[in-house]
Order: sequence, then structure tokens, then C-alpha cells
Amino acid sequence: MGNNYLAESSRYKTMKYNRCGKSGLLLPAISLGLWHNFGFADNFNNSREIIRSAFDQGITHFDLANNYGPPAGSAEEVFGSILKKDFTAYRDEMIITSKAGYDMWDGPYGEWGSRKYLVASLNQSLKRMGIEYVDIFYSHRFDPNTPLEETMMALDHIVRSGKALYAGISNYSPEQTTRALSILNKLGTPCLVHQSRYSMIDRTVENGLLDVLNDNGVGFVAFSPLAQGVLTDRYLNGIPADSRASKAHFLKPEYLTPGLIANISKLNDLALLRGQTLAQMATAWLLRDHRVTSVIVGVSSVKQLNDNIETLNNTTFSKEEEEKITSIIYGM
Ligand SMILES: NC(=O)c1ccc[n+]([C@@H]2O[C@H](COP(=O)([O-])OP(=O)(O)OC[C@H]3O[C@@H](n4cnc5c(N)ncnc54)[C@H](OP(=O)(O)O)[C@@H]3O)[C@@H](O)[C@H]2O)c1
Repeated sequence: MGNNYLAESSRYKTMKYNRCGKSGLLLPAISLGLWHNFGFADNFNNSREIIRSAFDQGITHFDLANNYGPPAGSAEEVFGSILKKDFTAYRDEMIITSKAGYDMWDGPYGEWGSRKYLVASLNQSLKRMGIEYVDIFYSHRFDPNTPLEETMMALDHIVRSGKALYAGISNYSPEQTTRALSILNKLGTPCLVHQSRYSMIDRTVENGLLDVLNDNGVGFVAFSPLAQGVLTDRYLNGIPADSRASKAHFLKPEYLTPGLIANISKLNDLALLRGQTLAQMATAWLLRDHRVTSVIVGVSSVKQLNDNIETLNNTTFSKEEEEKITSIIYGM
């Protein structure tokens, strides 16, 4: 990998861009998340190659949070260092996000949803990434003990201060979302986007959240679309030593029961019949819904990244395929 990076001139030719709700902002159908594989513990050159390759293929949207690593904060530092080396000329072509909500530092001001925490955390994130503003700043989770008005006023303040261009919320229930949208609208900083877990095997957001967002012209981005790697061919023949299930405690090996893997194998067969990998079918299944603005994938290699981007060649499903997927999933 050379030190002088020049982005591919063809980078906007094949990626699809979707409007984020009723805003002016377009997001790529596939975005890149830096929760795993971009910390100090990971191989820097591999992380750098993934970011370059993503950008070369039209992925403009990079999703971070204060606590990504490990250690917490290191993904933002690694990303900042890649930005400085390769992307100073391209900042205006990038959508960079961060979030605050989960445990980040000691004491009463290092987590949840107070104005104190959100503002201080964003200042730290900007410093770690070496940038003046993020494009989207999220409240990472609803705080039951802070008035929602305070959390939303902090987002409004952050946008007005120029440290973020847009405000977002993540992991809020439909009811919490309805209240948050109403407060933000009154403040004059409409919510751009909601980010939640959504995959073929976790359909919680179909509980009304997608409708609330659609009715209010707010975008939706899906995280963990591959259920952290479960909805791929990664675990069909055991647990590879370099996989998330063997490295990180967020995906426990005991979750990967023989029964689950047997059903994943059936999904894999269906994907192959469609001429796709299972990772592609799982991503396509999300993108077939017009309410899904973007799907944020995590990858540990350029090979996985390329596999996922190829999803865009086929995002439609026949009625029979839809029914087959549902019957396999509900058999899990
Ligand atoms: N807002 C929130 O609360 C929240 C929470 C979680 C995540 N997120 C965001 O969403 C992003 C994505 O989440 P995630 O990492 O859980 O997503 P994911 O896409 O469901 O899982 C990513 C993992 O799947 C495996 N994988 C990816 N592509 C593959 C392919 N083509 N073939 C085989 N295996 C493949 C890799 O596992 P190996 O590492 O084992 O190779 C990769 O690390 C995060 O980075 C973060 O930005 C947000």
C-alpha cells in the first residue's frame, strides 16, 4: 500500500445513494461501520486498506462512536490518523458520524444523555479524529433518568455550534422516538436519522419504529445487518480463530448452536440459488425496503467489503424467496 493515496476516479459510478428521510442528504446504500477491526488492537494497514477501498467504491459514510475500539476511543484515533494520511483532500465527500450514550469515562458525566456528557464527549471525539465537525452526531441510547428535552437540547446546541451538521438518535423505541422527533422539530433542528439493529433474524424495528420514521420523513440506517457475522458463511464449518465469535465478547460462541447453524446453512443454500453469498442476501433483504436508507456493515477484510458491495447487483426478492426466508427464520 503506497503512502500517496489518490481516490479512484470511477468511485461514484456504481454505488447507489438514497435520500435520508426528507432531508437534503444522500447516504450510500452500503455504509461502513468501525465498531470492530479499527482499534489499536487491530492491524493498522488492514484498517487503512478497508477505508480506502470503501471510499474508492463510493462508500462515503463512515460510522463511529466514542467507545469503539478496543480500547474505547481508539477507533476514532485510528480513523483520524487514516484521515490525516489519506483523506484531507476528500473531507467534503465524506459523512463521518459519532455518538455518545454508553459508558465512556469514570464518574457521573461519562455516560447516558446529559448535556454535560454529550457536549464533552463530542469535543473529545473531534480531538481524537482531528476534525472540526462530524456530519451526524447521535444520542447513542435513550436515558430514562435525564429529561428527553435536555438530551435533545444538547443535540440542537451541538448542531447550532457547528460541531455537527445533523442530529440523530439510536436505539430509541417507537414511543421515545416520537417524543424526540417532536422536541427536535420544536427546537428547529429536525432529526435526520435513526440508527437501530435490523437483520433477517432481528426484526424488532418492525414494531412500529420504521413507520414512525417514515411518517415523519426521518431516515433509517440499519446496524449489525449480518447479525455480527452469523448471517454469512463464516460459521458454517466451525468458529475460525480470527472471527468475531472467537475474539470479541459481543458475539458469544455458545450462541452458535448446531440448530442455528443448520438453519443458517439453509439460508446459505437459498442465497446460492439466487446467485449471491449469504452476506449479500442478508444485506439485500434489508435494502428491498424503501424505508431503509442505508445498511452499515462491519468488515474485517477488503474481501468481505467487496462481497458486501456486490449486494447491489440484486436487491429484489420473489414472493417464494421471501416466504422461504421467513419459514427458515421462524424455524430457528
Ligand atoms: N448504534 C449502535 O448502538 C450500534 C451497535 C452496533 C453496531 N453499530 C454500527 O454498525 C456497524 C456494523 O455492525 P456489525 O459490525 O455488528 O455488523 P455486521 O455487518 O452484522 O457484522 C460484521 C461482521 O460480519 C462478518 N462479515 C462481514 N462481511 C462478511 C462477508 N461478506 N462474509 C463473511 N463474513 C462477513 C465480519 O466478521 P469477522 O470479524 O468475524 O470477520 C464482520 O466483522 C458497526 O461497525 C457500527 O458502526 C451501531
